[in-house]
Amino acid sequence: MRILFIGDVYMDKGREAFDKYYPSVKQQYKPNIVIVNGENIAKGNGLTDAIYKDLMTKGVHAITLGNHAFSKKDSMNVLDYPNVCRPANYGEGTPGNEYVSLNYNGKIVTIVNLLGRVFMRDQIDSPFKKMDELLQTVKSDYFIVDFHAEATSEKYALANYLDGRVSALIGTHTHVPTADNVIFPKGMQYITDVGMTGVKYGIIGGEIKQGIRKFLSGVPERVNPENDGPLQFNAVLLDLNQNKIERINIFE
Ligand SMILES: [Fe+2]
Ligand SMILES: [Fe+2]
Repeated sequence: MRILFIGDVYMDKGREAFDKYYPSVKQQYKPNIVIVNGENIAKGNGLTDAIYKDLMTKGVHAITLGNHAFSKKDSMNVLDYPNVCRPANYGEGTPGNEYVSLNYNGKIVTIVNLLGRVFMRDQIDSPFKKMDELLQTVKSDYFIVDFHAEATSEKYALANYLDGRVSALIGTHTHVPTADNVIFPKGMQYITDVGMTGVKYGIIGGEIKQGIRKFLSGVPERVNPENDGPLQFNAVLLDLNQNKIERINIFE
């Protein structure tokens, strides 16, 4: 079974990069399941009904989110759609699904999105304990975890904690692809960050002149997108039968 996981599709340029490169990547790698991290796909903040439908018609099977999962207050209904999951380690009463389970040729593949706690703002439950709970309560042949986190140490700690218990731990959120795609000692596929899909330059997708201004002045501003320049498309291909994780990094 081959799973294509596409990293944070960032704003309109991310959708443009997705539309430009996804068809040929799909053609070349022939995935059975496609997962997209869509936490920034709707103008930087979460997901909308229209974008959900667009991704589904293009052959995406599951959409994971992140710290921007709840930013689009007028489209919170999307969180309950069957192929969407928000980070599972928010507290009780949080809208949305904790995981997505798909059936491929009689095998159940469960996709879980977890949010890190180091250098992140939300006061959330432990991703370690939440994953323990899901592994006890959810029956599945394979677990694919999108760990949406900032700190590489937290990502490696969770990776070592989950090795041998999940099929893959895939990092997202930093928007910068790492080169450490490896198989852990007990067989888990791992990468610290898939990277983003959107503008190539910019400040992790944000406008260059604004980003520099913010660092020079220290005055906070809501991020504007960078709308100029070449694109990038970042993904990983997980082959569960051959137990291989391959990076797909396209930089124009
Ligand atoms: Fe992101
Ligand atoms: Fe994020």
